[in-house]
Amino acid sequence: MSGAHGMDPAAIPDLPSPDAPVPPARGMAPGALGDWIKWGTARLGALSGSPRLDAELLLGEVLGMGRAALAVRAGEPLQAQAALRFVALLERRRDGEPVAYLTGRRGFWSLELEVSPAVLVPRPETELLVEWALERLRGQPAPRVADLGTGSGAIALALAAERPDAQLLATDISAEALEQARRNAAALRIANVEFRLADWCAGLAGETFDLIVSNPPYVAPDDACLEALRYEPRRALVAADGGMAALAAIAQAAPAHLRGGAALLLEHGAAQGAAVREVLRDCGYAEVATRRDLAGLERASGGVRA
Ligand SMILES: C[S@@+](CC[C@H](N)C(=O)[O-])C[C@H]1O[C@@H](n2cnc3c(N)ncnc32)[C@H](O)[C@@H]1O
Repeated sequence: MSGAHGMDPAAIPDLPSPDAPVPPARGMAPGALGDWIKWGTARLGALSGSPRLDAELLLGEVLGMGRAALAVRAGEPLQAQAALRFVALLERRRDGEPVAYLTGRRGFWSLELEVSPAVLVPRPETELLVEWALERLRGQPAPRVADLGTGSGAIALALAAERPDAQLLATDISAEALEQARRNAAALRIANVEFRLADWCAGLAGETFDLIVSNPPYVAPDDACLEALRYEPRRALVAADGGMAALAAIAQAAPAHLRGGAALLLEHGAAQGAAVREVLRDCGYAEVATRRDLAGLERASGGVRA
């Protein structure tokens, strides 16, 4: 009964069919924790790209247990009330709600972040931007860095944690997002980040930085992928001009806030590399370059203020 992908749900002993998820309301549910994970995996099936991981995280959330503890206790029984809560979470996941909103947490870089529907769920691809930013900052003592559109605070907090000597400014146009980012900073005891409500560079009047990073909204308003992202804030995802408006606005305004030789690094969609490079060159940046993710897709582009 291992390898839950493609397993036959009917093979799980004593559990209801994944199509009829109604465990008994009282006493112990039939089946052990490990069986419920397999059952949940089958219930999610192709509706999730990572059904087993999702099932483990959701059952772990219900039981207040990490994945390692679940594995150790796989043979223990499950209380019926816990089974009902697990099934309810699975149903929300089946409807497309991100696991991170269901558990309220998401790992990013080395940090565990609290997330809510007010912020984009931080993506692993964005760690590429953090890596690039850290490379740029190497050898620069006490750099001043801005993260525009900080959301949960993911990028700013990862940089601040890696570089305690840096001074970070994290901005967002959403007051709710900034509240979330501030809570994360407090929970992680990260003190070298200032949070500010601002519309891209409009909130940076008179200030200059050694590096500006941003993962702005870059999905075109008519992109079909938005249906699968309907639980996340539209303002965090969508930009006008085929998804290029925020990227272009930041590229145009950032030079006034970059010291000579300082870089702007932007995350973008996999098909937007050429367009972002063109915008950066048009705005006068030097050393314009693009980085690819592990899948070989163009994910981030940047340039240096001459
Ligand atoms: C793609 S999300 C990125 C969140 C976070 N930096 C991350 O990487 O997970 C874009 C963020 O930009 C913010 N945003 C949208 N329009 C903005 C604007 N005009 N000025 C500042 N922030 C904006 C959104 O509220 C959202 O938090």
